[in-house]
Amino acid sequence: MHELPRAGDIVELSMEAIAPNGKGKGSSRAAGSEKLSFFVARTAPGDVITACVTGARKRYVEAELVEVIEASRLRVEPICPHYDECGGCQVMHLSYAAQLDAKREIVRYILARHGFDRELAGPVVASPSELRYRLRSKLFLTPELTPGLRAWRSHRVVPIRQCFQMHTELERGLLGAARFAPEMLASRSPVATLLGVCDLGSGRVLLQAGAAGEDAPRIAGWFTVDEKGAHGETQPLCRVQAAGFDLQYAPDCFTQVNADANDLLVAHAVQAMAVRPTDSVLELFSGIGNFTLPLATRARSVTAVEWPRATRFAKDNAKKAGLSNIAHLGKDVVDALRDLTGRQIRFDRALLDPPREGLGETGCNLLSEAAPQRIVYVSCEPTTLAADLASLTRQSYRLVSVTPFDMFPQTFHVETCAIMDKE
Ligand SMILES: C[S@@+](CC[C@H](N)C(=O)[O-])C[C@H]1O[C@@H](n2cnc3c(N)ncnc32)[C@H](O)[C@@H]1O
Repeated sequence: MHELPRAGDIVELSMEAIAPNGKGKGSSRAAGSEKLSFFVARTAPGDVITACVTGARKRYVEAELVEVIEASRLRVEPICPHYDECGGCQVMHLSYAAQLDAKREIVRYILARHGFDRELAGPVVASPSELRYRLRSKLFLTPELTPGLRAWRSHRVVPIRQCFQMHTELERGLLGAARFAPEMLASRSPVATLLGVCDLGSGRVLLQAGAAGEDAPRIAGWFTVDEKGAHGETQPLCRVQAAGFDLQYAPDCFTQVNADANDLLVAHAVQAMAVRPTDSVLELFSGIGNFTLPLATRARSVTAVEWPRATRFAKDNAKKAGLSNIAHLGKDVVDALRDLTGRQIRFDRALLDPPREGLGETGCNLLSEAAPQRIVYVSCEPTTLAADLASLTRQSYRLVSVTPFDMFPQTFHVETCAIMDKE
């Protein structure tokens, strides 16, 4: 039996991989510690480092980087001056090719942990832009209204002067608006956050402030700013092109933050659906129509399920595109599945794109009752994806492939598109 290291111990480690939580995973060079995994942020596979232990469990140890003794050849100099402190870009110290390899390994590892063949995960589809891809970001403000981002896994605000994830227009609009944030609040509470959404249609940045200590801040609406101050927007609408369609939406609706990578994802997912002109398609978590419209041009009909708020925009977007074969169900996904399967309605194909929580066991069972021959599952959280894929496997679906997409360069987050077929 090896002895567990204690907080404060300095250990020498060989780093081997990037773990699903974005930290580097390594093992100790000391004899007898082979079975322990060490997790150390901001390390690269191939590094030899010293680290200071911060906590130890039965099988793994958390530690903080002290010194890189031998630097991995996968390392690059992070371009951002805030990298050391800011929690936003956890893998900016890896070359872009190494980031993509690390994300593929994360997906493979999670698949294997859920009993799937790790080889089913293909190479990661790169983002067209490695930097300046974000069209939506939230800043945290200090009491003096200095704009910042949070340190990694901490509430501490790190003041920033720039952010290489943000689209240039978004960076300029958000950072420049921080001093006007109190004008955007409905209450006199201290302002804590500032959300910005860049409207590619007009180049404007729409802004919304959040008050400190309010989980659901009383929203005073959306604003734009100029040198004179903040101005309320009576019609806060944004536009984005997705897969050749013009989509209009309110800034509080979900849209992918990386429009160029989204185009690649939509093209891949729609092709993966292999829709025939006679097919009826079920789409769950359909948002403002990102996948719905290209699917509707190929299918006999699409039934799109989404909360009422975004459904309103999805309907308008379909109408503008001249598509009349979409049934919009503005309700909870599981309720809609219960209703559809209760009425014995069946589908030829299904596409789902849930939030981080996934669809869940009940939803997966109901989805399988709708009996689509093929399911395409788009996900931003590989662990809930794998759990849902495992549920669907128990309902006679077979995993065909998983294609990871780099929607969020410089971070450890990974988007995936999985294909399942009915056995
Ligand atoms: C990851 S987004 C995907 C949206 C869309 N597919 C896209 O590509 O833009 C998840 C969507 O699910 C919706 N949503 C979350 N939970 C839901 C539920 N229980 N019922 C219906 N819609 C839900 C959200 O409003 C959001 O639009």
